[in-house]
Amino acid sequence: MFKINDNYLKLPGSYLFSTIAKKVAAYKEANPEKKDQIISLGIGDVTLPLAPAVISRLHSAVDEMAVKETFKGYAPDLGYEFLRSAIAQHDYKTRGVDIAIDEIFISDGAKSDSGNIGDIFSVDNRIAVCDPVYPVYVDTNVMAGRAGDYNQATERFSNVIYMPCTEENGFAPELPEETPDIIYLCFPNNPTGATIPKTELQKWVDYALEKGAVIIYDAAYEAYISEDNVAHTIYECDGADRCAIELRSFSKNAGFTGTRLGFTVIPKALKCGDVTLNSLWARRHGTKFNGAPYIIQQAGAAVYTPEGQAQTQEQIAYYMNNAKIIREGLAAAGFSASGGVNAPYIWLKTPDKMTSWEFFDYLLDKANVVGTPGSGFGPSGEGYFRLTSFGSYENTLEAVERIKKLK
Ligand code: MLT
Repeated sequence: MFKINDNYLKLPGSYLFSTIAKKVAAYKEANPEKKDQIISLGIGDVTLPLAPAVISRLHSAVDEMAVKETFKGYAPDLGYEFLRSAIAQHDYKTRGVDIAIDEIFISDGAKSDSGNIGDIFSVDNRIAVCDPVYPVYVDTNVMAGRAGDYNQATERFSNVIYMPCTEENGFAPELPEETPDIIYLCFPNNPTGATIPKTELQKWVDYALEKGAVIIYDAAYEAYISEDNVAHTIYECDGADRCAIELRSFSKNAGFTGTRLGFTVIPKALKCGDVTLNSLWARRHGTKFNGAPYIIQQAGAAVYTPEGQAQTQEQIAYYMNNAKIIREGLAAAGFSASGGVNAPYIWLKTPDKMTSWEFFDYLLDKANVVGTPGSGFGPSGEGYFRLTSFGSYENTLEAVERIKKLK
């Protein structure tokens, strides 16, 4: 008889955003008259259409696929050079960072990369995660058998080092007491929207180098950074090329959530003994992935053109204006809230000691607004709630007005 990967059985419930979608669907079914009033500020999914420069490049790339001479089959293993060069130039060189194009691996998004990256690490590694954080890091380590067992009472896995990010520490993790082998950091953070200054990030790099740990740095929200003291890439820190892998996405900076494109950077200086992690990831990528589609990589390259940059910056400004509306609206209504300055997420404390899920139900029922329960991102998220600024301006205003009326 075949055997399953029973690590999957250790996962509590279903994936956070699937649970939310099911709950909202059930609510709509039970309350059909409210169906059209529901505003989703839950999952961090964009609502603006792709920028004109991106659309125009998609069209021309589709036309190329219709002609024998310009048709493209399988993409090169690591991605097309035109896209990797644009990334090296715009995302790194302009920040004073040298990343070679064979240190960049194009993928179908940061979610897949953050889940798949574990393939190149032994199951014996101990991971450390911010708590709360994007659930994919822990869930995929559970699947791999690296997380230990789940303790229902503490809501923690036995082999995971949780680094609480709370109001007391400004939602910034502290260096852990126990020594991890793999450290997941996500700045600007999902879900709290918090960031740390570059000087603090440098301390993590120094710590990783001292302990022989690797940092998996999720910079999916980099485009939302508005403060000058925050690093846009971990490679702005000295020595990060010897200890950090960076994950990037086109979803949030250019609205590719439905189009799928991302990349991972693994500098060749990052080694375990004589083995470069770059070579392992190249082997994994070549074996398990057949490349992001040509037309999508062309669309990604269009983001780096002057028009693409101007248009996507405008989209980010639109979402950040929504963030301001939410932040200020919540403050006016007496909520304690943070984030929304360097990130499209606002992190609020639930009122009247409600649990995160109680507040989710309350908000859905009383205001017909969907958000994300903080506890879904980790035990320290209990009593908190996340709203995203990725909705439309009109819906954001309306949602904030409804929330104000609750108070
Ligand atoms: C979120 O809502 O946390 C994000 O949309 C999840 C993701 O980017 O996969």
